[in-house]
Amino acid sequence: MLHHALQFRAAEISIGSASDGTAMLGKSLAMQKLHNQISQYANSPFPALIEGESGSGNEIVARTLYRLSSSNTKPFLALNCAAISPTLVEPTLFGYVKGAFTGAVTNKAGYFEDAADGTLFLDEIGELPLDLQAKLLRVLENGEYQRVGEAQQRLSRARVIAATNRDLRQEVKKGSFRADLYHRLSVFTINVPPLRELDDDKMVLLERFRKLYADQAHAAPFTFDEGAARLWREYRFPGNVRELRNIVIRLTTKYAGQRLSALDLDPELDSHSTPQATQVATEFLIPSDPDELIEQAQKHLQRERSFSLDGLLKTWEQGYIEAAMKLTRGNVSQAAKLLGINRTTLYSRMESPQKQ
Ligand SMILES: Nc1ncnc2c1ncn2[C@@H]1O[C@H](COP(=O)(O)OP(=O)(O)O)[C@@H](O)[C@H]1O
Ligand SMILES: [Mg+2]
Repeated sequence: MLHHALQFRAAEISIGSASDGTAMLGKSLAMQKLHNQISQYANSPFPALIEGESGSGNEIVARTLYRLSSSNTKPFLALNCAAISPTLVEPTLFGYVKGAFTGAVTNKAGYFEDAADGTLFLDEIGELPLDLQAKLLRVLENGEYQRVGEAQQRLSRARVIAATNRDLRQEVKKGSFRADLYHRLSVFTINVPPLRELDDDKMVLLERFRKLYADQAHAAPFTFDEGAARLWREYRFPGNVRELRNIVIRLTTKYAGQRLSALDLDPELDSHSTPQATQVATEFLIPSDPDELIEQAQKHLQRERSFSLDGLLKTWEQGYIEAAMKLTRGNVSQAAKLLGINRTTLYSRMESPQKQ
C-alpha cells in the first residue's frame, strides 16, 4: 500500500513538466522517499534545508518544493551565495538605498523584497559570510530586515529554502557557520542522495535524457551496446546527475543515431582512477592524430592521481604482445612480425617487460 502511494506521488511530480527536462526523475526507493518528503514539506511556511553533493539535484528539489506548494503562483527567486562576491550578498538579498555605497545610484529592492510572500532559494548557504548569517537569522526569526543604508525596518514573509553541499554540522563545529542559524534553517532537512546510491536510476535518466537532448538537437538518439550499458551501470558518476546529463549531451552531439561500444563511451567518463576503466583506457588510447593523442594524454594526466608512464607503457606493451601471441596461436616469429619487432626483442620483452 505504502509503496503504491509513494509511486503515485513520484508519477504525480513529473506531470506538467516532464517535457522540459525540469521534472525530477527516478524510480529507486531512495528517490520515492525523497519525493514523499518533498510533498510533505512543500506546504509549510517554515524554512527547509537541502543537503546533497553537488550535481545531485539540490536545486531541482528546491524548485519542486516550490512547485508543489500552494504558493506556486507567487514569486520564486534563487540566489547562489557562492556565485556572488561577499560584499554584494547583503545589497542583493536586502536591497539598498541611493548613495549607500559607491555605485548605489538608485534605491533598489533586494531578493527578500522581490520574493514577497513567495519562495527565496539560497543555494550554497555554507558560503554565506558570518555577518550575513546574523542578518539572515534575524529575518528568519521575526521577518525583519533593512535595506543597506536605510534605518527603516521591513518585513519579509518569504519562505526560505536553503541548500548546501557542505556538511553544515561540521561547519558549525569549525565555527564557520552559526549554530543558531543552522537550527533555524534545518526545521525540515532533506537529504538528496548521490546518484551512485540510486540503483537503476542512472538507466532511467539515461533513457530520458537520451531522447530529450536528441529531440532538442533534432537528431536521432544514440544507443549503447551491452558493453557500454555495463560500463554505464558500473560508473560511479562523482558529479552526479549534472555529470550524467552533460555526458549525454556530449554523446548526443558526437554520436547521434549511432550505437556506442564501451570503447566509445569510456573516454567520456571521468573514471580512470578505477582499475577497470584504466584497463580500457590504457589498452585503447591510440588516436592516430598526434594532437588528439596529446589532448587525451593531458586529460589522462590530470585525472590520474598516481600516474606512471612506465606502468602505462608496460601495460600497453604486454597487451599488444598477448594479442599478437593469441592471433598467431603462440607462434613467436609471426607474433614478432605482427608487432614489427624481431624475435629476440620479443623474447626479451616477454621475459622482462620493463627492460627497453
Ligand atoms: N532527479 C533528477 N531528475 C532529472 N534531472 C535531475 C535530477 N536531479 C538533478 N537533475 C538535473 O541535473 C542538473 C543538476 O541538478 P541541480 O539541482 O542543479 O544540482 P545541485 O544544485 O545539487 O548542484 C540539473 O540540470 C537538474 O535539472
Ligand atoms: Mg546547485
